[in-house]
Amino acid sequence: MLVQGARVADFERRLAERCGREHAVACGSGTAALELALGALGVNAGEVLCPDLSWPSPAHAIVRCGARPTLVDIDALSWNATAEAMAAARTDDTRAAVVIDQFGMPAEHDRITAALDGLPVVVDAACSLGATIAGAPAPAGGRIACLSFHPRKLITTGEGGACVTNDSDLAEELRILRNHGQGGPGAFVTPGGNQRMTEIQAALGLAQLDRLDAILERRRHLGERYRQALRGFGLQEPREGVASNWQTFGVTLPKTAGPEARDALVRALRANGVEAGRLSYALHRLGSLAGRFSGGPFPVAEHVEDRGLALPLHPGLDDEDQDRVLRAFDRATRALGIEP
Ligand SMILES: Cc1ncc(COP(=O)(O)O)c(C=O)c1O
Repeated sequence: MLVQGARVADFERRLAERCGREHAVACGSGTAALELALGALGVNAGEVLCPDLSWPSPAHAIVRCGARPTLVDIDALSWNATAEAMAAARTDDTRAAVVIDQFGMPAEHDRITAALDGLPVVVDAACSLGATIAGAPAPAGGRIACLSFHPRKLITTGEGGACVTNDSDLAEELRILRNHGQGGPGAFVTPGGNQRMTEIQAALGLAQLDRLDAILERRRHLGERYRQALRGFGLQEPREGVASNWQTFGVTLPKTAGPEARDALVRALRANGVEAGRLSYALHRLGSLAGRFSGGPFPVAEHVEDRGLALPLHPGLDDEDQDRVLRAFDRATRALGIEP
């Protein structure tokens, strides 16, 4: 039994518990989880709200299920979309909302859900396993939350993802959709695809779940050290009561530095053995979404895309290595005339 056997069931049980949910439905990737979630909610037309700053998966998932993303600018402090911005972007044609916990920083799920007054909310928790809001797991938000287990996330199964929900009917629909549309063996009730997880992935995921608390502790320690050292630069700020897992640690340069300065800084860091990279994407600028979205303007997402970089942060990074990163950052910003 190499696919969707006892280990997958065990991984789902432990994951649901960790996320404070009744059900977890494991699948092949975080992107697959988003497509399954929108499918299970019956979204196949109309508009779906989606923050503008992100890896493209949520907006691509919306287009692929037959709807149009209404992109929403992000907040300058949290780099997440706010309840006010989401509510303002809603139209009569809006069918659902995707709320992203950007870089592992939980968005205001409850306020957004309340502001959208009955609209189904999918939390893209691809990055936020282990993050909390008032002590509760971030993936406990929304009708369905979607997780990713890509190697850059808190825990990995190689590729992998999951939907978590408290709604038994939705969980059943998700299970049907991931398994060729089968309601039972050979009972094909809808034209579903194949988004199953393998036993090999689940075995890896179970071992990784055992390490999640240690991984979180290390990430939080490193995140706090970066925050202290980089005061003055643009940093993602947690709201009251929110604890990020620092899945990605981003920093933005001041407005006086443009994208060229950011790129030069990334090159200088890499030349010194520091694996920095550009931070994220303003989705309205992607060729894949040209003519396919509504919304705007997006000044904050553009600022973060143009001036943001990600610094190395992983549980294997020791304090000494992090100090080397910070020294290289300090040297390179001075050499390029970039001041906080
Ligand atoms: C916000 C967000 N959503 C979805 C995904 C997609 O996850 P996966 O790579 O597992 O398909 C990512 C991946 O980076 C992400 O950052």
